[in-house]
Parts: sequence; structure tokens; C-alpha cells
Amino acid sequence: MFAARLDHVSLRYDRGEEILRDVNFALPAGSMSFLTGPSGAGKSTLLRLIYMALKPSRGLISLFDQDLAVASPALQGAIRRRIGVVLQDFSLIEHLSVFENVALPLRVTGTPRSVYTPDVIELLDWVGLGHRLHARPATLSGGEKQRAAIARAVISKPDLLLADEPTGNVDPAMGVRLIRLLTEMNRMGTTILIATHDHHLIPQQARTFSLSAGAVEQTR
Ligand SMILES: Nc1ncnc2c1ncn2[C@@H]1O[C@H](COP(=O)(O)OP(=O)(O)OP(=O)(O)O)[C@@H](O)[C@H]1O
Ligand SMILES: [Mg+2]
Repeated sequence: MFAARLDHVSLRYDRGEEILRDVNFALPAGSMSFLTGPSGAGKSTLLRLIYMALKPSRGLISLFDQDLAVASPALQGAIRRRIGVVLQDFSLIEHLSVFENVALPLRVTGTPRSVYTPDVIELLDWVGLGHRLHARPATLSGGEKQRAAIARAVISKPDLLLADEPTGNVDPAMGVRLIRLLTEMNRMGTTILIATHDHHLIPQQARTFSLSAGAVEQTR
């Protein structure tokens, strides 16, 4: 069983050059992997393909062993709800508080407020935002926004978590803490892919892929 699988995938934006060229890449269910590569190599692009924000120019993508090319819109929606994402620009909703941003994935699936409130508060405490529950995203520092975005992505315990530079804006100690949170989620069953420049945050034994010149290569 694969949480995600790309077979001979190529991607170009509009009529530009190919950013990804005949990529074969798979995330076995339950695995935790890191994706490195120079700026502009296509790491965010690869993540966008996996969370279905982009369609491949060529090749096949399957998620949870379902071929996306033949999945109905309803099935695609159901698959998308199994995926949590931490985007490089955070994409927090500006008119909602930190608490409401993080609670949103649970609210939309109908979880009662009385059930999710303690979980949201505990998680925000854990990432050091317990004192910023009612703040609007615009008033947060870059690292605080990043932690709120991670909390929002993990609160619903997704089957697959994609994190784009999740430690890019925090200090090294918080970076270690966030990787620990993600490692703990992985131990509880979430498949994880993290795109990062922070080589020192990649655990010794972790599966690691490098993306450059349009190709993905497993380096560990
Ligand atoms: N929407 C878009 N339209 C056209 N070109 C794009 C678009 N998004 C990204 N690109 C181009 O695709 C290439 C890969 O970009 P991408 O953001 O995937 O790289 P990255 O590896 O995530 O870089 P970084 O480490 O800086 O985040 C870059 O050359 C970029 O300019
Ligand atoms: Mg990127």
C-alpha cells in the first residue's frame, strides 16, 4: 500500500520548460521521508502534485492506491481530506484567530466544538502558541505563523502529511521540536513527506530524496 505514487510523471507550467522529468517516486504507507534540493528545483511543485493542486503534464499519480486520472470528483474530494499540508507561505485565514484556524479542519468534518477545543488548546500549547490563541495571523511572527500552520495540518491526524519547509522560519531548538512532533505523528501512523533545506534536522536513518535537474533520486 502506497500513500502516494508517481509513475513517469512530468510537469511543466504553461508552456515553460519541464520542472519535473519522468519522475518515479513513492511513499509507502507509514513511511517518513525528506525531500531536499536547491531552491527552484521543484520541491513545492512535487508537493502540489501530491495534494492535487496541480495535474501532471504526463504520467500517473495515485494516492492511497487510487489512480487520480480516473477518480470521480467526489472520490478526489475524499482523498484530499485525508491529506494535511503545511505550505511554504502558511496560507492561514487572515480573518480567523489562531485557535479558529487550527480548529477549522475539525469543524468542517462536523466535530463538536466541545470535543475539539481541548485538543486544539493542547496542540497550540505544545507548539508554544498557547498565549496567542486569539491572535490574528497578521499579528504573528513568521515562526509563529509557521507553528500555527503546522498545528492546523496535524490537528485532524491526516493519513498523509506534506510539509513544505516546515522549519524554515523557526530557531533551531523549535525546529527540532517540530520535527519531533512530526516523527511522533508518523509513529502513530501518518505517512509524512517533508521538503527542507535544513539538512541537520533530517534524522540519521530517514529516507531522503534529492530533487535536481527535474529528477528525484533516493539518497538514503
Ligand atoms: N505557478 C508557477 N508558474 C510558473 N512557474 C512556476 C510556478 N511555480 C513555480 N514555478 C517555477 O518552477 C520551478 C520550481 O519551483 P518550486 O517552487 O517547485 O521550487 P522549490 O524547489 O520549492 O524552491 P524553494 O526551495 O525556493 O522553495 C521554479 O523555476 C519556479 O520559478
Ligand atoms: Mg518550495
